[in-house]
Amino acid sequence: MTEGFETLAIHAGQEPDSLTGAVVPPIYAVSTYKQDGVGGLRGGYEYSRSANPTRTALESCLAALEGGVRGLAFASGLAAEDTLLRAVCRPGDHVIIPDDAYGGTYRLFAKVLERWGLAYDPVPLGDADAVRAAMRPETKVIWVETPTNPLLGIADIEKLASIAHDGGALLVVDNTFASPYLQQPLALGADVVVHSTTKYVGGHSDVIGGALVARDTTIGEELTYHQNAMGAVAGPFDAWLTLRGVKTLGVRMDRHCDNTERVVDLLVSHPKVVEVFYPGLERHPGHEIAAKQMKRFGGMVSFRVAGGEQAAVDVCDRARLFTLGESLGGVESLIEHPGRMTHASAAGSPLEVPADLVRLSVGIETVGDLLDDLSQALG
Ligand SMILES: Cc1ncc(COP(=O)(O)O)c(C=O)c1O
Repeated sequence: MTEGFETLAIHAGQEPDSLTGAVVPPIYAVSTYKQDGVGGLRGGYEYSRSANPTRTALESCLAALEGGVRGLAFASGLAAEDTLLRAVCRPGDHVIIPDDAYGGTYRLFAKVLERWGLAYDPVPLGDADAVRAAMRPETKVIWVETPTNPLLGIADIEKLASIAHDGGALLVVDNTFASPYLQQPLALGADVVVHSTTKYVGGHSDVIGGALVARDTTIGEELTYHQNAMGAVAGPFDAWLTLRGVKTLGVRMDRHCDNTERVVDLLVSHPKVVEVFYPGLERHPGHEIAAKQMKRFGGMVSFRVAGGEQAAVDVCDRARLFTLGESLGGVESLIEHPGRMTHASAAGSPLEVPADLVRLSVGIETVGDLLDDLSQALG
């Protein structure tokens, strides 16, 4: 029997506890496990950096939701990214990254992994010819975000997978913005999916976490080895909180999308808004691809404000129900100024974002209240 997304979210990896019947996997706050004689492990657990039952429950659930063979949970999205890159690349290798990648991802490449010997090139991933031209014999990974943070750019996962594979590289997709409910990169040819589970997967702005999901066992084994060898694992309480969030991912995402569509309607007709970035808009250059590879268009929208940087900052400062803060994907709506906040680390780089840009993470509050707040913030 093939199970549906919501069924998997609630049950995959989450069998009732064999000892007590508890319907929710307990928080195994434990570092080590009694062995029945040397090497005699009960249930395969020996030390919680290698594996912990609460983390296993989350990892199995995420693998099921992304349609992969192995899921791995980390202390943060960036810890997951770092582990992945050191597992699949060697010094001297090369990676293609989006020319509007999340600022923290860009910083990881530019300030940490480049020193380790990993070369990278930011490329507009919507332009297949540019991607092909940027491929080198030593290119090991095409790193994709779709939609991108914060400009909601769209890349064609299927097309990029074939370019990567033709060149002997892996296709990695950061699926944080879409979540597995809206987009399934592995089914489109990606080799590894990355998540900041801090965002939609966790969904309640109460835990930092990351995840990797591998399409095949060889990569899965390599990532598992590095997860243990590098040690940036999710703790049991964080894994439990994330798993609690995952159960409602589908219903939350539908409401995020409903509310965002209404917010976008308001923004496109507002005189103080110069440009709206949302892949659900027919005039968005990636609309057709997004419609092909996403179930709906998501809960993130960015827009440019008439009057420049200060006007954009003023909108952020005036918002009340939209909380001024970094991050995204939680039940509560957030507003931010990427140039001075989430993407400040990209200032002066090819990934610098427009100064008059405002980014919204539209939550699941009563939509009329969100529209009222946005109207008053725009002034
Ligand atoms: C698209 C994307 N990928 C990765 C990350 C990094 O995740 P974390 O903050 O959990 O380390 C973020 C964080 O904002 C993000 O937005």
